[in-house]
Amino acid sequence: MRFAEYGGPEVLQPTQVPEPHPGPGQIRIAVRAVGVNPHDWRLREGQFRRIRPIEFPSGVGQDASGVVDEVGDGVTGIEVGEPVFGRGANTYAEYAVLSSWAPKPDESSFAEAAGYPSVVETAIRVIRLVGVQPGQTLLVSGAAGGVGSAVLQIARERGIAVIGTAGAANQDYVRSLGAVATTYDPGWVERVRRLGRIDAALDLSGAGVLRGLLDLTGDPDKVVTIADLEASMLGIRFAGVGGDMTEALTAAVDLIARGKLHIPVDRSYPLDEAATAHADSQAGHTRGRRVLLV
Ligand SMILES: NC(=O)c1ccc[n+]([C@@H]2O[C@H](COP(=O)([O-])OP(=O)(O)OC[C@H]3O[C@@H](n4cnc5c(N)ncnc54)[C@H](OP(=O)(O)O)[C@@H]3O)[C@@H](O)[C@H]2O)c1
Repeated sequence: MRFAEYGGPEVLQPTQVPEPHPGPGQIRIAVRAVGVNPHDWRLREGQFRRIRPIEFPSGVGQDASGVVDEVGDGVTGIEVGEPVFGRGANTYAEYAVLSSWAPKPDESSFAEAAGYPSVVETAIRVIRLVGVQPGQTLLVSGAAGGVGSAVLQIARERGIAVIGTAGAANQDYVRSLGAVATTYDPGWVERVRRLGRIDAALDLSGAGVLRGLLDLTGDPDKVVTIADLEASMLGIRFAGVGGDMTEALTAAVDLIARGKLHIPVDRSYPLDEAATAHADSQAGHTRGRRVLLV
């Protein structure tokens, strides 16, 4: 799936292109499933055009799972035929090159595995950045999405108590991940305040909640956002890119094997329905991760 201009979901078109091949330190997979991240439709819309212009026609997609079918120079410890999941480029495709990967856990389907890389990397990065410690309470705004699902489970594993905000339909889901749930409807700041002291807070939805999070923590250093560009005006840190994907994949494999991490597939779509998956993701109420099946 490629796009020849910035635009709505309809610019994504199935296209025949030469197969990619791995460079040194990379592998190629026959893709089985692709994780759909908001990053993908932000790229397609042109939201990164100033910081990272692209050449058209462009591929899209970072996360994927599949079966190794080519191994680049210098790569050791992985063989053709092994199932893996990881991050690469232009993964909305039958074949894709990955630059970070790990063996696919036996416990995860290809569809589930494709959903993990970016959200686990982000979750580990933001928990570290906000500096919340075991025994403390973390407030998570936007707790039911992909990143939220990972944050809640990784925080629980580390002994951090979590209060999560989500829509009415996701209250039970948030509770099932070990958090105390409340909605983000008007009055959410007071509802959260009544639940107890907040030591740190994460904004994972960019829904304009930073002032409320500041009010609840009393300190901009105790708030981190991954989605609200108003952060700097309030002295709040915006967590950009820069995490360690290999660390994240290793952590994901370990947590999944111990039954501590499971991110559900909200809905899966055939690859050629990527435009529908983008439109659904953009609607803003994904539970877990949406995936494309190849
Ligand atoms: N800076 C970075 O490094 C980085 C990395 C990854 C992602 N991101 C960004 O972070 C955001 C979240 O990513 P994601 O993959 O988790 O997205 P996602 O899976 O699409 O989840 C979005 C979530 O936002 C929630 N939400 C919608 N309206 C809300 C509101 N008013 N208050 C609180 N929550 C609300 C939804 O919950 P309900 O369904 O319960 O309404 C939904 O679960 C995206 O904007 C993405 O681009 C940034």
